[in-house]
Amino acid sequence: MHKKIGVIWGDCASKEIVAQALSVLEAIEKKYGHEFEYTKILMGGEAIDEMGEPLPQSQLNLCLEQDSVLLGAIGGPKWEGLPGHLRPEKGLLKLREGMGLYANNRPAKIWPQLSEASPLKKEIVDQGIDFIIVRELIGGAYFGKHELYEIDGEKIAMDTMPYSEHEIERIGKIAFETAQKRNKKLCMVDKHNVLETSRLWASVFDRLKEQYPDVEYSTMFVDNAAMQICKNPSQFDVIVTENLFGDILSDEASEITGSIGMIPSSSLGETSNGLYEPIHGSAPDIAGKDVINPIACILSAAMMLRYSFDMSKEADDIEQAVDSVLTKGYRTADMMSEGMKQVGTKEMGALIRKEIESC
Ligand code: IPM
Ligand code: MN
Repeated sequence: MHKKIGVIWGDCASKEIVAQALSVLEAIEKKYGHEFEYTKILMGGEAIDEMGEPLPQSQLNLCLEQDSVLLGAIGGPKWEGLPGHLRPEKGLLKLREGMGLYANNRPAKIWPQLSEASPLKKEIVDQGIDFIIVRELIGGAYFGKHELYEIDGEKIAMDTMPYSEHEIERIGKIAFETAQKRNKKLCMVDKHNVLETSRLWASVFDRLKEQYPDVEYSTMFVDNAAMQICKNPSQFDVIVTENLFGDILSDEASEITGSIGMIPSSSLGETSNGLYEPIHGSAPDIAGKDVINPIACILSAAMMLRYSFDMSKEADDIEQAVDSVLTKGYRTADMMSEGMKQVGTKEMGALIRKEIESC
């Protein structure tokens, strides 16, 4: 198969992980006779430096022409002081919105080999951690009005958090369908004791749940959910929530699995052209040192094969290769524990690639 892949190399340590993901994809290309055609796309700090803004229209257009887009991570201290509309993150938000990617899928799954690296107690980890956060990605506070004004010499800031029934319903459908393909449990996380948007979410979900009688549906307040994720994560199968809550809870969920460096994500809308990226950031503190964990980016490439290209065998190969390398005791610094073999970014990528070639 021939597929066009947009590649956003990203900022700081990001290029190191994207290089490893592309090397793994090359092994898949050879093994299965596919042809992946790559187009370099500038977004984030790199786009600010070279083109003066975080996502120029030409670069968004390029993304829209691809079969899918792979991203490392963007941002860093170099661009910290810039005004809001010129920050690297703005490029990512514009990209998500421009591609219509409303459904962000963030798995929180513990690899048994890494259970030692989880900060949770062994008896909690042993109950199993395997759930997915379906995060609404192009609504809410991220895309509301952001204003800074002054009254009588005092500064006042305001961010609004709008949601329409349509926006809630389309993410709701994805969440129920995701639950149907898994253990058929869906928990909608909100704050309906305080927020009007949450009350609208709850009423839309109450309507939707009638169409999915096979799914066990519940709701939970976001503060309680933050606690339950540490206290009893095995109760969750699929969590669905709005944009900002999803951002916060997904970082928490990734950490309990042992390392945020292991968690990939997919973002999809109405078409199969999606965006695939690790959930971690661009790790400026370790850039250029060959220590960043490339696995989240490699697993993001696997998700791209599975969800956008319908290549499940190829995706299985990558996931199994990661599994074998972990079983053999190889670890990057972020997931090191006693008795394991520490390797750098490039070596980790090469080990995974070798597994794919040999299986
Ligand atoms: C993420 C990131 C982004 C977000 C930032 C970089 C804008 O934290 O993908 O989780 O908040 O969505
Ligand atoms: Mn985040």
